[in-house]
Amino acid sequence: MEKATLGNGETVPATAVAPENEEATEAWSGVLFDRFVEFRELIVDSLQLHGDAAIELHPPRTGDRVLDIGCGFGDTTQQLAALIGPEGEAVGVDVADPFVRASIEEANEAGVENVDFLTGDVQVMELPGTFDYAFSRMGVMFFANPVQALRNIRGALRPGGRLVAVVWRRKLDNPWVHRAEQVVEKYLEEPDESDEPTCGPGPFSMQNADTVSEQLQIAGFEQATFTRCDLPLKLGNDLDHAVRFNMALGPAAEIIRVNGADADEIRPQLEAEIREVLSDYAGPDRVSAPASTWIISATAPG
Ligand SMILES: C[S@@+](CC[C@H](N)C(=O)[O-])C[C@H]1O[C@@H](n2cnc3c(N)ncnc32)[C@H](O)[C@@H]1O
Repeated sequence: MEKATLGNGETVPATAVAPENEEATEAWSGVLFDRFVEFRELIVDSLQLHGDAAIELHPPRTGDRVLDIGCGFGDTTQQLAALIGPEGEAVGVDVADPFVRASIEEANEAGVENVDFLTGDVQVMELPGTFDYAFSRMGVMFFANPVQALRNIRGALRPGGRLVAVVWRRKLDNPWVHRAEQVVEKYLEEPDESDEPTCGPGPFSMQNADTVSEQLQIAGFEQATFTRCDLPLKLGNDLDHAVRFNMALGPAAEIIRVNGADADEIRPQLEAEIREVLSDYAGPDRVSAPASTWIISATAPG
């Protein structure tokens, strides 16, 4: 069986990426990784409020072994590692190797010892060992087969272990997303074919609590709860920054990206209209919009 290497050099069994997640893996390992690096401060700062709310509502316990799903740069993995203390262990997993390499480097630099990072597709990989708590900040919405992924996560939790995940609620309650997408959709639609890889079902795939509670139930979880979390999201230091960010990441940006040259031709028009939308959220020292997420929790049967 194929092996994957943990941050501490230990090798554990791993499986290949599910064929239906290969395109998303290419996107996350390439263009989306580069854009996350460019806008990292903004993304991590903004998502932190929602992640912190989830951890505060459903915290891990001291000494827990925790899994961080779709860990990105590993900042939540480090945060969880601090909360569980030296008796615990936090394992960050991400399908995109560049994120995992960045996570390992940063945890080493910070001298955090109770973390490990692993590259793998959480939908199909053999997760290393048993966990008390599985967490994800915006990392569970990109599986082509969410039930298979949730079942895999549930199988790695001890009886009574908990999944806590933050996902976007509907676009209407995240108006900067909705309105920017409406602008772009006036001119462009998702092409049938594109040279650009897409990121799978996308960031809003878990917006419907009924659908997700059903998926959790089929995957074997119990006691699913959905807590609505409304907190502002910083979109930029100023309007220029916010426009660049919205043209680079998010649903509107994805339509622009996959349309390639066709989108480039009308880029100035799109930028101008998106600027107009975002100006509604511009304040004296930042651009900040209302944002709404679900904090999901569910338990593996005891
Ligand atoms: C929106 S980012 C969130 C990153 C991080 N959790 C944060 O809050 O900053 C989504 C992350 O999920 C990862 N991801 C997507 N599909 C995955 C899969 N099948 N298995 C594991 N990670 C995946 C991506 O590579 C990316 O790092």
